[in-house]
Amino acid sequence: MVRIAVVVGSTRPGRRSRQVAERVLKHAQEHGGEFGMLDVADFALPLLDEPLPPSLGKYQQDHTKRWAAAVKGFDGFTFVTAEYNHSVPGALKNALDYGYAEWPFAADFQEYTTFTPSEGAEEALQPLLDQVISWSKALQTVRS
Ligand SMILES: Cc1cc2nc3c(=O)[nH]c(=O)nc-3n(C[C@H](O)[C@H](O)[C@H](O)COP(=O)(O)O)c2cc1C
Repeated sequence: MVRIAVVVGSTRPGRRSRQVAERVLKHAQEHGGEFGMLDVADFALPLLDEPLPPSLGKYQQDHTKRWAAAVKGFDGFTFVTAEYNHSVPGALKNALDYGYAEWPFAADFQEYTTFTPSEGAEEALQPLLDQVISWSKALQTVRS
C-alpha cells in the first residue's frame, strides 16, 4: 500500500489552505488508499539553516530531522498550495528545499543516474494516466 500525503503549503495565521486540504484529505480517504496530512506549519521551519546541501543527507538541525522523517513516511504527495504573487508560498518552497532524498523521485535513481522506479511510483502513475486519457478525450471537441 502506498501512503500519499496531502501537503499544506501556507503557514500564515488565518490561512485558508488548511480547510481546503482537510476537504481534499476527506475525499482522498473516501476514494480509497492511505492518505495523511503533511502540514508545513506543524514544523516551524526557519529559512533554510542547514550548513550542508540537502543532497548530502547530513542534517544537523532537529527541525530538519523531524520534517525529513515526516516526508519520508509517504510515497507520494498531493500539494494544496495557495498562489502568492503568481508562485507558491515561500514557506512551501523553503520546506521543499530542506529535503532531497525524502522526495520519492530522487530515491528512484540508482547512483543518481539510472532510473529504477519504486513499486509505489509506478502504481501512482496509473490513475494519473487514466486522468490524462479521460481529460484528453473530453477536450477533443474543444481542440477541433
Ligand atoms: C502574499 C499573498 C500573495 C498573493 N498572491 C496571489 C496571486 O498572485 N494570485 C492569486 O490569485 N491570489 C493571490 N493571493 C490570494 C491567495 O491565493 C488567497 O488569499 C489564499 O487564500 C491564500 O492561501 P492561504 O489562505 O492558505 O494563505 C495572495 C495572497 C497573499 C497573502
